[in-house]
Amino acid sequence: MTKKVGILTSGGDAPGLNPVIAGFTRTAIKQGYEVVGFLDGWKGLIEGDIEALTLEKVKEIVQEGGTILGSSRTNPRKIDNGFEKILETLKNENIYAFAACGGDDTLGVAKILNEKGANVVGVPKTIDNDLEATDQTFGFDTSINIAIDAIDRLRTTAKSHHRIFVLELMGRHSGWIALEAGMAGNVNAIIIPEFEYSIDELCNLLKNRHEGNRTYSIVVIAEGVVFPEMKEKIDKAGKDSFGNVILADLKVGEFLAEEIKARTGLPVRGVTLGHIQRGGPPSAYDRFLGLRYGAKAAELIIEGKFGRMASLQGTQIVDVPIERAVAERKVVSKDLWLLAKSFFG
Ligand code: F6P
Repeated sequence: MTKKVGILTSGGDAPGLNPVIAGFTRTAIKQGYEVVGFLDGWKGLIEGDIEALTLEKVKEIVQEGGTILGSSRTNPRKIDNGFEKILETLKNENIYAFAACGGDDTLGVAKILNEKGANVVGVPKTIDNDLEATDQTFGFDTSINIAIDAIDRLRTTAKSHHRIFVLELMGRHSGWIALEAGMAGNVNAIIIPEFEYSIDELCNLLKNRHEGNRTYSIVVIAEGVVFPEMKEKIDKAGKDSFGNVILADLKVGEFLAEEIKARTGLPVRGVTLGHIQRGGPPSAYDRFLGLRYGAKAAELIIEGKFGRMASLQGTQIVDVPIERAVAERKVVSKDLWLLAKSFFG
């Protein structure tokens, strides 16, 4: 009897999800498996929302952004008998094994399901690039390219109007997007969650620039930065189903822009790039990486290596235990931060 395998995409989408789905489906079908997709992340597995994936269906999706399966932040822990419902769907639908594509929240759920006996493998996904168990997650490369395009565009208007722009980029726990896009975009200061940089310190840097011969500045900040001055805002912010503060409620970039204006009197605007960083076609790098991750996830299932996750180590795709993906977060190192800081001004 043909074995049936499945795939789901969960959490915030990332450019490269469709290449993962294509790589997984093609590899599994070519090895004689039947493939299905679970719709909208864990929700699809809980509610039994399933769709057949054929070679025809994945033929033209490699270049497409988003995910043809849909995604959500549904957390089985928060749903009555969530895990039991998933196990039931797997049994009723006769699913031999499945791949979960997601960040630390999704992979945390996958780890529990593996411990409960489900045949599950992982694919590391997040534009934030903050998973320690892989050298790079797909989606990150696309997002930093979108971010440097935004920086280049802000530069021309900043120059024309002699203004300061504060650009808020994504990155909840780690400042990879802000750091790499900020350095590549040649900005004047970068603020990330890993290292403290006070508003006063930044204001001094900006005053020095603008009292000298500089007429404009660009500052990049990661959305996950929390200044001590923001305590009240944090208390009022909402939380998602995994308990993460909804950062769109905090808008740290706009907050910082207002503070700079109040403390220096310089003309400043805050811009939030937001979900544009996750939209549109994946870069060549993310298409290639996604296809390889997807194919590896299918191979892990074929080899019966459950509880493992596809991982990029150097230029090779290898596998590591899923629990490694949730054990530690990949944060910007002090060396890199000091290098970035040495270019400020
Ligand atoms: O998936 C990661 C991420 O893009 C974070 O950078 C960001 O904080 C979050 O998702 C936004 O979530 P949502 O799409 O639910 O607003």
